[in-house]
Amino acid sequence: MSSSPIKYELIHKDKHSGARRGRIHTPRGIIETPVFMPVGTNATVKTLTNKMIRELGSEIILGNAFHLFLRPGLEIMKEFGGIHNFMNWDRPLLTDSGGFQVFSLKDRKITEDGVKFRSPLDGSKIMMTPEKSMEIQQIIGSDIAMAFDECVDANSEYEYFKESVERTYRWAKRSYDAHNKKEQALFGIFQGGLFDDLREKSLEQITSIPFDGYAIGGLAVGEKYQDSEKILKKFGNKMPENKPRYIMGIGSPTMMILSVENGMDMFDCVLPTRMGRHGTALTWKGKLNIKAAKNKFSKDPIEKDCKCYTCRNHTRGYLNHLFKRNENTGKTLLSIHNLHFNITFVKKMREAIENDAFLDFKKEFFENSDYPLE
Ligand code: GUN
Ligand code: ZN
Repeated sequence: MSSSPIKYELIHKDKHSGARRGRIHTPRGIIETPVFMPVGTNATVKTLTNKMIRELGSEIILGNAFHLFLRPGLEIMKEFGGIHNFMNWDRPLLTDSGGFQVFSLKDRKITEDGVKFRSPLDGSKIMMTPEKSMEIQQIIGSDIAMAFDECVDANSEYEYFKESVERTYRWAKRSYDAHNKKEQALFGIFQGGLFDDLREKSLEQITSIPFDGYAIGGLAVGEKYQDSEKILKKFGNKMPENKPRYIMGIGSPTMMILSVENGMDMFDCVLPTRMGRHGTALTWKGKLNIKAAKNKFSKDPIEKDCKCYTCRNHTRGYLNHLFKRNENTGKTLLSIHNLHFNITFVKKMREAIENDAFLDFKKEFFENSDYPLE
């Protein structure tokens, strides 16, 4: 078994829940966990500069193999020597395998070999396979790559999920075998939808492969958060304890709490940045629509005690105006606030875990806000 380029250090387990406080050591720096990872699909966290992301305290961001493969493409990635040089980001970066993005395309065909689809750029036929995904992610040079998996449509039948779990296992083995970049970590993803027996099977299969970390896939695809919670409760703390645990595609306050409560270390989501671009601010009380007329004359910041750049410098009235005029600066400013919110959120969870007070944090949060979000 080859040695891992990253190392998970367990610092403390909360005494009253499954939450855990840890640290992931990577060649590009330390990631304190639980961690929220902002999404930078196209080698940029939309509307933000790297300096802003650094100042927000992000220790790791996400990229997407599928998007970067289409544009700018592998030739340019090679020419620049990988994504870190290309975008001038020197901290850890994780790439998703495409196993999610490909499946959201309409015109795609799944075979044993992989997924055939038409390029959204020019309509040409492209085949994405585990081997191809590994090649792409190795050229991108992310610090953590993800195995190529199948993220099934939540409305599919049991029989389809069952087949898909087996295929995801075969693809995971192929991903593992094709991966040969020693300085890049590789995580496996288990699937199985909302079916306990399939989740159990998939977890057993995927963790039989010595990946550097493990992820829960196939959640936050339109199901109720109570359904995700059931899966998290049953399987979160069955994931290997000595490696990072990642739940893909979640980032609402409710889901961050439920994930951490059940032993998750990492998560990513477009929610804070997407909501920010659309004029919704996340606050400790709930969501706030900056475009609402009541903010027009307001000299208050989005949130009184918020230490983010936006709240230290700008009023709701000004932000309301920027959104009314559809000015890009408004999108930047709200993205900053929302990412600050999520990053502060995980910092508070870490502190609570260290004090064996995670459930107090949870109770207080829901008492003082009108989340659950979606
Ligand atoms: N992002 C959110 N969910 C998933 C998933 O199930 N698989 C992959 N590869 N990425 C995801
Ligand atoms: Zn703020």
